[in-house]
Amino acid sequence: MRLKDRVALVTGGGSGIGRATALRLAQEGAKVTVVDWNATTGAETAQMIQAQGCDGTFIEADISKVADTERIVRETVAIYGELNILVNNAAVMLEKTVVDTTEEDWERITGVNLRGTFFCAKHAVIQFRRQGKGGNIVNMASVNSFFAEGGIAAYCLTKGGIAQFTRALAMDHSGEGIRVNAICPGWIETPMNAKFFALGPHIKEQAARLHAIGHIGQPEDVANAVVYLVSDEASFVTGSMLTVDGGFSAGLAPAMGIVV
Ligand SMILES: NC(=O)c1ccc[n+]([C@@H]2O[C@H](COP(=O)([O-])OP(=O)(O)OC[C@H]3O[C@@H](n4cnc5c(N)ncnc54)[C@H](O)[C@@H]3O)[C@@H](O)[C@H]2O)c1
Repeated sequence: MRLKDRVALVTGGGSGIGRATALRLAQEGAKVTVVDWNATTGAETAQMIQAQGCDGTFIEADISKVADTERIVRETVAIYGELNILVNNAAVMLEKTVVDTTEEDWERITGVNLRGTFFCAKHAVIQFRRQGKGGNIVNMASVNSFFAEGGIAAYCLTKGGIAQFTRALAMDHSGEGIRVNAICPGWIETPMNAKFFALGPHIKEQAARLHAIGHIGQPEDVANAVVYLVSDEASFVTGSMLTVDGGFSAGLAPAMGIVV
């Protein structure tokens, strides 16, 4: 148990990568608050944690609301006494080019992906400082933090911002024992991608070819990386962008189907 008695908060814990992460953190001994704006799926994750004999609680919140970002930290501390780990994972996708993006779309995607991520980090850092013994933040970035894919302009913008925000946070707070890292997943099989996969089996085949390893990832692949980053094994790791992408970012050859 690498995280015994630590307290973790996972945003977007009701689905996909967030759910898998909440379950893995709990298996490693952490007490976990699962935050989601979907009350059904968020509560399900907390039940799944409890069913594996671990400690988990659901808090319903919309992280695009700044007041909620303060409240989820406060309520976590009220339940478990402190906060040691923030997994800043919740985000939304928008399948639009810039021309099709409306002001309302912009407000929604930047509200969740940027404002939400930023203010969750702010309130976690304030709490870590109060406790005076450091802390850990993992921001969920993406291969789209560095590599654009067509038709998702605003999403790419927010993920690029999260990568640079991770470095800035690490610069400001690593000296206080607060480590801040990002994970950059490749394509992971989650409900976020369900719309793409629903277009037909060819989409998953094409997505697989983008990854040198020849297939897309599973939420647990990312969850395992989160556990590493927040554990003491990563005590010299801060400000890093850890790719968990099956070789998506290793080169252009996989995408072009080039084999030598
Ligand atoms: N799936 C992928 O291929 C992939 C690749 C790279 C990065 N990511 C990133 O990983 C993270 C998780 O993605 P996923 O694929 O598991 O997505 P998902 O859609 O399966 O899960 C996202 C969860 O976040 C919740 N959520 C969204 N907005 C929220 C809000 N305002 N307040 C509270 N909860 C909110 C949703 O209800 C959902 O439970 C995201 O940051 C995503 O950008 C995913």
